[in-house]
Parts: sequence; C-alpha cells; structure tokens
Amino acid sequence: MGKWIVCAAWPYVNAVPHLGTLIGSVLSADVYARYLRLKGEDVIFVSGSDEHGTPIEVEARKRGLEPKKLTDEVHEYVKELFKKFGISFSNYTRTETQTHIEFVREFLMKMYENGYIFTQDIEMPYCPKDQIYLPDRFIVGECPYCKYPHARGDQCENCGKLLEPTQLVNPRCVFCNSKPEIRKTKHWYFNLPKLAETLKKFIEEHPHFPDNVKAFCLNWLKEGLKPRAVTRDNKWGIPAPFPGAENKTVYVWFDALLGYISATKEYSEKIGKPNLWREYWLDKNTKTIYFIGKDNIPFHAIIFPAMLIASGEGYTLPWQIAATEYLTFEGEKFSKSRGIGVWIDEALELMDADYWRFTLIYMRPEVRDSNFTWKEFYRIVNSELNDAIGNFIHRVLSFIYKNYNGVVPKPGELDRVDLEYKDKIVKAKDKVAKLMDNNRLKLALNEVVNIAREGNAYLNTKAPWDKIKSKPEDAATTMWVGVNSIKSLAILLEPFIPFSAEKIWNLLNLPGSVHEQKWDSIGVFDIKPGHKINKPKPLFRKLPPDFLKRVNEILVKIRLNIKRPSVLE
Ligand code: MF3
Ligand code: ZN
Repeated sequence: MGKWIVCAAWPYVNAVPHLGTLIGSVLSADVYARYLRLKGEDVIFVSGSDEHGTPIEVEARKRGLEPKKLTDEVHEYVKELFKKFGISFSNYTRTETQTHIEFVREFLMKMYENGYIFTQDIEMPYCPKDQIYLPDRFIVGECPYCKYPHARGDQCENCGKLLEPTQLVNPRCVFCNSKPEIRKTKHWYFNLPKLAETLKKFIEEHPHFPDNVKAFCLNWLKEGLKPRAVTRDNKWGIPAPFPGAENKTVYVWFDALLGYISATKEYSEKIGKPNLWREYWLDKNTKTIYFIGKDNIPFHAIIFPAMLIASGEGYTLPWQIAATEYLTFEGEKFSKSRGIGVWIDEALELMDADYWRFTLIYMRPEVRDSNFTWKEFYRIVNSELNDAIGNFIHRVLSFIYKNYNGVVPKPGELDRVDLEYKDKIVKAKDKVAKLMDNNRLKLALNEVVNIAREGNAYLNTKAPWDKIKSKPEDAATTMWVGVNSIKSLAILLEPFIPFSAEKIWNLLNLPGSVHEQKWDSIGVFDIKPGHKINKPKPLFRKLPPDFLKRVNEILVKIRLNIKRPSVLE
C-alpha cells in the first residue's frame, strides 16, 4: 500500500464550471482516486476553489461586486454541485482560508530566503482611464507566437505559451478597450533560469509523463526559461510577503498551486492529525498525480516543481501529470458569453450525475481534442449505458427473480462457454487496471462496457430461457455465472458511475457498500447458491426518440428556471 495525493486543478469560481472543466480536472481525478481506493491504496484527494487573480476580479468588476462576495457564494454553490456529482474529495477547500494564506506567505518567504526571488523595475501596461495596471486577464492582444488575436497578458490560450503583458501586439484594456500606456513599476521575480538544469533533469527522469506534457516542457526548456513575476499591483489577492512588497499581491498561480499542499494540511487539521500532511508531502515515495487541462501544463510541469525545489523543504515532486486536451461543444469552444455549452448545474437538472460521468468519460479528450455532441450523448446513454450495461444486469437479475424466487441457483459444471466468459472477467481486472494506471480512463471504461456486452452475448449463446425446462442445470449455471459477473461488474463500474454501482450492489443484496470493495475481488465468484437477491429494477432510463429534437428547448427551460447564487444572476 502506497501513499497517494490525487490533485484536481482548482476551478476559478468566477462562474459555474462547464462540462469541459468537469472532465478535465475533478471528474477524471475522482475516477482515479476511487480506483486507487479500491486497489487498497492510501489516498488523499484534494482540490478547491481558485479565488484570486484577474479571472475573478474581471467578473466582479463587471458585476459591480466585491471579489470576495462573488467567490463566497460561488464557492458554496460549486462545492455542493461537486458533491452531487459524487466527487469523493478528502478536502475541497478554497484559497481564501487562513491556512492557505499563511502557508503561501511562508512558502514564498522560503523561496526568497533561498535566493530564488529578485526584484526588477519593469514596464507594465497601464490603463489611464480605469487607473489600473493591466496584467494577466486585464489585457488582451495578439499572441506574438501564434498570432491568436485574443491572447491574455499571462498566457495565450491558443498555443499555451506563457506571456508577459508587454509582449502582446496591439494590446487593449479589457474593461474599456483603450490602448494602454506604459508605466514603470517594481516587481518580485522568481528566478526560473537558475533552475533550468534541475528542471531538465526532472522532466527527463519522468519518461512516463504523457506526450503532451513532455513535448511542452522540452520545447519550453529549449527556448530558455525566463524569470516569472510573483507579484502584482492588484488589490485582490494574497498580500505579498517580501520585505518592501507591502502594497503588492501574489500572482494567482504562485498562490493556487500551493493549494494542493495547504489543502492537505487543512485536511490533516480537520481529522485531528495536524502533522499528517508532512508524512505525505515530505515523503519522496508519495505519489502525487495532477489532473488538469492542457493549458495548465506549464504551471504544473515546470513552475510548480520549480517552486517545490526552490523552497528547499524536500517536497515530493509531481509523479504524474494527467493533462487532458480540450473538449469542444458541438464543434465550438465553450463560451459563457455566447451561451455555448452546458454548465454543470444545468447538466444535473437534465440528467442524474452518473449519466454525465459515464458520457463524459466516454468522450474524455484523452490524447486529442474531442467534441461533445448531443447525438453522441444520446448514443452512449442508450446503447452503451442502457443496452450494454443496464440490460445485461437486468436480464440476469430478473430471470433469477422470476424463475428462482430471487434465490441464486446451484450451478452445475461450467462448460467451455461459461469458463470463457468467467475468464474474461478475471482478465478484465488486470486489463482495466493497466489502462487506469496509464490514465487512459476512457479506454478503461470501454473495456468495462465490453464485459457487459459480452455478458449479453454470453446470455444469448446460453439461452437460459430455452434451457430452463429442457436442461435446468444449464440455466442454473448460466445464472450463477451471470450474478457473479454482475458483482465484479459493479466493482469495475464503481470509479465511473458510483451511484449506479451502489444500486447494483444493493440489488445483489450484498453486505456493506461497493465503495469499500477490493479491486482484487474482481473475478472472484463467491456469491453462493441460496443467496437471495432483491427485486430487480431497471438501473437506467433510455432517452426518448425525440430527445435530439427537444434537447435545446429543454435546456432553454432549465436555464430560465435554474436557481443560481444571487451574485451570478
Ligand atoms: N484555476 C486554474 C484554471 O482554471 C487552475 C488552477 S490549478 C491550481 O485554469 F492548482 F493552481 F490551483
Ligand atoms: Zn499563441
């Protein structure tokens, strides 16, 4: 049993997250964390609301609100939504906690004391009309690398490159669209070039980083790392701890990344073991894994390890970075302003969490961008979730219920067909595990669905409805194999659709909960003849044939009626 920290990128709470955010970070992380727990690993799973920085301030200014008022309400709302999605965090917290703020300030001071922070007078765009400096998302312009016209002051979301606001071509203030002036201001910089060699070694020693992460890092290292400003002139943020930086705040990324550690610390305090977090973070054998969207790669693969090294505390460096590509929505980018996409609160009004968990993992942009379409959603719900999984389970359980009064019959000798199917289940344990270990969650789920599909084929071949009279022992064997396969299937499904997996467990009338089972018991056929199951009920609903015609209309209604925090209205 090993120690694990599963980390999901902290969503900005300037808005309700959309489906792309859900699949990129917290949902993928949850599937993985649940899998690790079934494997008997020792898991802490953390995330929280990213509350600082210009993303929040831009939204708050637009709405005429104090940033804190916005994040207070949205944090509570989002936290509740994640719970409804079954995200099994050990701690979902926020960056405005005292624990976090103190942790960040102390951590940055260690970097400072170790000689990794220096000051520099720089030129910074300034908006004369709004009377503010324009860092990060306060400014937009053309990316000097890829020419994307809407690049932001700290990063181009098209090519992913990190930027300085003065690099933007044709820059404009996001609030008033005016052309900025240039002013001098002093800032505290993280000396990344000093760590270039160490970071190169770090990346090279991680051959198991996925291709998108490796490619990005090696390219960046080749081009040469530049120092990165840690401070900002903004009011909203954690006060910078450096001597002389009293009127500055911390750049949001140097604050949020440390949340993974401070959230573990807070968790330790909550469970009454205040030093536990050190046993995890300071142990080089602890495996930390980060579930993020690809635009977060530079921060997690270079900046965060660099910070951990610069602190000199001996924190365990990222073991794996599972970065998803982008999810588009019906061929377009999710866009709040243009109303393109589905937001996670609306999603839950339309369908229960497991339908979303299942379809989103199915469409997970694992190695390339993928596109959410309602057509595909419809297909996956009806033919994968219902026809493959739901039907297999229901066919077996209702047959047992009707023909044996719900009592699992005594099997005869297993023939070749029985043994072949049983063998598939036994093999699925390792096959699915291997895919999960490589963060191919989508392929792992495909493999689980296959088990159900083949279960249906197995039933068709065995045709117990024909045999029940002519060869009752054969029908009994099929049902015993079937019910035991369903038990394994419930465990295989637990990481993906935990609510339904628990329902299956209850239909099987097994003790305890599916969440506490062991991965190793997959393929162990230990439901004995004489065991009584509960009355079967179909697990899923099919989407009606006119769903595709009606979905937009349904969504409009949902949007009209949804009750969001007042700050978002
Ligand atoms: N809020 C950032 C985003 O949505 C992610 C922050 S991840 C953290 O892109 F680790 F830094 F918190
Ligand atoms: Zn670009």
